[in-house]
Parts: sequence; structure tokens; C-alpha cells
Amino acid sequence: MLILGIESSCDETAASLLRVKPSKRGITLKILSNIVWSQTSIHRQYGGIVPEVAARAHIGKILPVIKEALEPLSNLKIDLIAVTNGPGLVTSLLVGVEVAKTLSYARRIPLLPINHLSGHIYANFIDKSPISPSHLQNIFPAICLIVSGGHTELGLMKKPGQYKKIGQTRDDAAGECFDKTAKLLDIGYPGGPIIARYAAKSDRKAEIRNFELPRPMLKSKDFDFSFSGLKTAVLYLVKRQKLSQKIGKEKTKFIRAVCAETQQAIIDVLIAKTIRAARQFKVKSIILGGGVVANSQLRKQLEINVYNLPFQINLLIPPKNLCTDNAAMIAAAGYFKYQNLKTKEINNLTNNWRKIKVKPNLEI
Ligand code: KG4
Ligand code: ZN
Repeated sequence: MLILGIESSCDETAASLLRVKPSKRGITLKILSNIVWSQTSIHRQYGGIVPEVAARAHIGKILPVIKEALEPLSNLKIDLIAVTNGPGLVTSLLVGVEVAKTLSYARRIPLLPINHLSGHIYANFIDKSPISPSHLQNIFPAICLIVSGGHTELGLMKKPGQYKKIGQTRDDAAGECFDKTAKLLDIGYPGGPIIARYAAKSDRKAEIRNFELPRPMLKSKDFDFSFSGLKTAVLYLVKRQKLSQKIGKEKTKFIRAVCAETQQAIIDVLIAKTIRAARQFKVKSIILGGGVVANSQLRKQLEINVYNLPFQINLLIPPKNLCTDNAAMIAAAGYFKYQNLKTKEINNLTNNWRKIKVKPNLEI
């Protein structure tokens, strides 16, 4: 089975071809192509994504990106198109969805709408050991932590297709906090990877007394998050320490310390709540997904925390290139969604394009 994934929910125009390869031990989801065109260089000058600009850029790139993704296999038949229909920016989503509908109609290819957040979860099953019922039984139930630029949520997944949100951010997402902090410090966009680079060069422990930041909702009994207060704390810290008057080495040292402390504050909250959820729901695995999961410190510190637990638990973390937005994860989510369909529903997929709508606030 060959699945074409299409993703355009935010500022990445992406297409991917995924082969579902059966074997005696189960199936493997193998990437044949994974093309991601990032608009970062366009939005950098604004310090954030401008929706109208993003949509126009998607329009210019979507066909070349899909064409490139299909290049290795021009003669092979595609069995399924999986396209992100939400959540995301409405005008960006529309571009991918309309192209996918047109392809489905013109070539009579079955089409499935995919939730972007579920894509982040299923990124964990790409290019991995064969997926079989017994393999899935060893993984689920699982706690999923999704941390991206637009979302921070914890969910309980009993099995593929059965997901229940147990907590979410009440204001900013963790990625947004990284991005806005970087903007406050005037160090560039997108903030996550830049903050991580500055943080890596800081001696946080030596500076902690001067720069300690809050860990919002760390002790709250629920599984919700809040990151807007952290961003405000950075704003006051920057003002108090007179960043605008600092120059040279002193300025760099200060920025590195703030980056390290902000990153650690976010990581502390994410890890504490995830581990507590895993304990409370007695799950077999923790599954991570979303752009913020590309953060090396988050990955490393969570691994250590999980290793130190008194019981054994699987930790699923996608490779870094599959954490940030891509279409391979959408194709993978397409496979799992397809597996859960009834024969009648599968037979109707070629006409599905008529019904598919863009849903900017879609939940899993
Ligand atoms: O999942 P994603 O690519 O797009 C959304 O669905 O939002 O996530 C983008 C977010 C941005 O906020 C970006 O700053 C953050 O992921 N990010 C990181 C890192 N790489 C990307 N945050 C922390 N550390 C990183 N290395
Ligand atoms: Zn995303």
C-alpha cells in the first residue's frame, strides 16, 4: 500500500510518500520520500507567522513539493491520500485540503482527512520495528505528550484511534513560549532551536540565583499547563536586568542564562506532569510528539526520568526531523485511521472529497 501525505496546517508545505510494507512480523511504515519546504525565512522578518503570507506561500509551493515527493515513483499507483484538515491556520489548511481533494477527484484516489496532532503521535511508528497486534498491545495504553507551537496537551491513548485529552495549556503553548521568549531577547525566529543553542552554552547552575523563573502549575493536581506567566516573568527579568543597556560578552552571558533557565522551566513542568500522568493511569508507554520534542534537553531529561522510575515503561520519541511538521506523520496517521475503517467506509473513500472540510479548531 502506498500513501501520499499532504501537510499545510501552519508554515511548512510538506508531502511524503509512505510505503506500508507487510511481513510475517507485522507491517513497516517506510518513508520513500519526505519533502518539507519551510517558510521560516519568510516569516523571520516579522518574528512570527503571518497567516495571509503563509497561505500565499503554500499556494506557490504545494504543487512542486507534491511533485518532488512523487518523483521516485511516477508510475506507481497511490492507494490513499492523507491530508491534514485541522487544527491549524484556516487559510493554510485550505491549500493542502483543496489540492488533495482535486487529486482525489481527478485520479479517483481514496482520501482521508487527518488530525495534525494525531500525526505528531503516529510519527513514532515510522521506519520502526514491524507493527503487529502484539507489538501494539505492548505499547498501549499510553500517555501522549504533544508539544508544538500551537498546542501543549496530554492525552490517554488506550489504543490507536482511542484518545482522550486529560490536560492542556490554558493559555500559550510551550513552543509559543520558546518563540515569544526569543522575540523578547531579540535573538531570532523560530525561538525553540535558537534558545536551545544559547542554553547549551550557559552555565545555568552558576547563574541560577539571579535568574530563577517560575514553573507554572508544576504543583497543580490536574494535567493542565500555563506558559504565558513564564513569558511575562522573562519580560520583567529582562527589564530588571536592563538587557537593553548590556553589550558584548556581558549581554551574551545574560541571554544564555535566560535561555537556559526558560528552557529548564518549560522542561521541568512538561516532565513532571507527563510522569505523574503515566503513574496515575498506569500506562505501558509515554509517547511524545510535536516540534518542541526536537529539544535535546527535553529528550535527554525525560529519558533519565523514565529510566529512574521504579517500574518499566516504554518511551517513544520520534527522530528530530519527524518531530517538527512533516507529511510522513500525516501519511502514518492515515494508515492507522484506514485500519480502523469498516469495509463500507473504505469503499466510499473515493467520494470522500465531497465531504471533507477544513477544521481550524479540530480536536483529536
Ligand atoms: O510541531 P511544529 O513544527 O509546528 C506546530 O504544529 O506548531 O512545532 C513548532 C514549534 C515552534 O514553536 C518551535 O520553536 C518549536 O516547535 N521547536 C523547538 C525546537 N525545535 C522546534 N522548541 C524547543 N527546542 C527545539 N529544538
Ligand atoms: Zn505540528
